[in-house]
Amino acid sequence: MLRVGYYQFKPQFGDVAKNIQTVIKALRTVTADIIVLPELPFTGYYFANRAEATALAEDPATSPQVQSLIDLCKDRDFYLVTGFAEKKADKVFNSALLLGPEGLVHTYRKLHLFNEEKLWFDAGDIPLAVHNVRGAQIGMMICFDWVFPEVTRTLALLGADIVCHPANLVLSYCQQTMLSRCIENGIFAITCNRFGMDKRPQGELKFTGKSQIVAPKGVLLHRSRSQAHDLFQIDIDPAQARDKQLTAHNSLLADRRPEFYAPLCKSL
Ligand code: ACM
Repeated sequence: MLRVGYYQFKPQFGDVAKNIQTVIKALRTVTADIIVLPELPFTGYYFANRAEATALAEDPATSPQVQSLIDLCKDRDFYLVTGFAEKKADKVFNSALLLGPEGLVHTYRKLHLFNEEKLWFDAGDIPLAVHNVRGAQIGMMICFDWVFPEVTRTLALLGADIVCHPANLVLSYCQQTMLSRCIENGIFAITCNRFGMDKRPQGELKFTGKSQIVAPKGVLLHRSRSQAHDLFQIDIDPAQARDKQLTAHNSLLADRRPEFYAPLCKSL
């Protein structure tokens, strides 16, 4: 069994030190194997422009904030999947970090940028991957990646048991859709959304909360309220995600007919 969870909260735009402290305080007494945080939980989301995103982003390798999260992982002996505004040379990515007691395990850079994110960030350039955490295969995707079923399918084909999904959702469709993503791939998904608003000179964005954990048969194990803090944990058996039989004669992955899916692998 694996104890997994998430922390739904309300970051303050631009106040990285305060947001890190909010997270560290909330997780200080948690006993878990994996905790998921929202997308961009330290910088906030609604950047005015690329210069602002770049100014708030950091290189995880030298970031004191990341080091304090790694220290927390060591202290509490757990793994964190967290959104992160990542600076690398002249690029800036909307990323997710897998952190553990041993340090930075993997960086995922959001492949599908949502709306104005295309003005602020570079699109992800690292292949989807899974990593073993305490016997479970962990994949990462970020928020709007939900609308591309290819992402969860690729992670499932790579062997993911659990998809960790930091989010800053503004549309209302994702939570319900993730039930289908879990049914069709036979996986768990942990979607950690934020709540509250980013009120900026260019306008306001409201985030929808309702973070959730879904089991392989599309069973909703928990969904948070829309506008409330929620530090939630539950024990799951990742082995449930290894049974891909839907009926005696149907395997979710082995029954695919990729020779008929050629358009999927071409850009428009
Ligand atoms: C989103 O991808 N943050 C909507």
